[in-house]
Amino acid sequence: MSQAPLGVFDSGIGGLTVARRITQRLPHEALLYLGDTARVPWGNKSHETIQRYSLNIAFRLRDEGAKALVVACNTATAHALDVLEERLDLPVLGVVEPVARAAAQATRTSTLGVLGTRATVASGAYERALRRLDPGLRVLAQPCPLFVPLAEEGWTDGAVPREVARAYLRPFAGEPVDTLILGCTHYPLLASIIQEVAQDLLQRPVAVLDSAGATAEALATLLHEQRLLASSGDAPPAHRFWMTDLSSSFAEGWSRFFGAALTDVEHVDL
Ligand code: DGL
Repeated sequence: MSQAPLGVFDSGIGGLTVARRITQRLPHEALLYLGDTARVPWGNKSHETIQRYSLNIAFRLRDEGAKALVVACNTATAHALDVLEERLDLPVLGVVEPVARAAAQATRTSTLGVLGTRATVASGAYERALRRLDPGLRVLAQPCPLFVPLAEEGWTDGAVPREVARAYLRPFAGEPVDTLILGCTHYPLLASIIQEVAQDLLQRPVAVLDSAGATAEALATLLHEQRLLASSGDAPPAHRFWMTDLSSSFAEGWSRFFGAALTDVEHVDL
């Protein structure tokens, strides 16, 4: 079982930022990544739809023999983690809890900002996770829907993303926010500009944390505890990347999100 692949899914290609960190932290693990490029974005969809899509994909990955499941999408974690944990007989890890833990430890002012899709912010998932860790934390959340197309188009620097970041972060001005959670798969690509604008508006150093690194670390712990860690093989593990749509516009983004060229990308119907 430990040599079985890890199932990783996202609404599209954004979860490749999480997949990338998993391959760095756990180089012997083979990934079976499923990106729902035919139905992306999920960040503007309803709770019911996000749950239905998530279950649909999770069952498919389980049926393909995944040993554990990583919900690499913040929106899916925020709306469907509970139901996935309940309905699947596999270990399931989401991206909210690990970064919330890191952020709760990082803040010195007990005031955090959370940036995410509309659906993630509306769910209140980050507030709940942070307050479970420390009821004294103050959490200010801001939906940033335009960051997703900016990251996909590669507009991660320059006047346009800077102005967009300024508009989204303006409500935090005057607040003692010292830690920002990038609660969306796409935002790590905009991390430098978000940090620069935040520090300028807030007039203080701001720690910017994304889910990818914290999730890879939490996954290493989970696989170790469940005795599911893959042993080192002679050859590097063969990852498979499945997409529900294979348009060229997404293909251009793969390497930007994953940090390396993707091989073995296949179209899959759900
Ligand atoms: N993957 C989504 C997330 O992390 C962002 C893209 C979308 O809206 O589907 O929330």
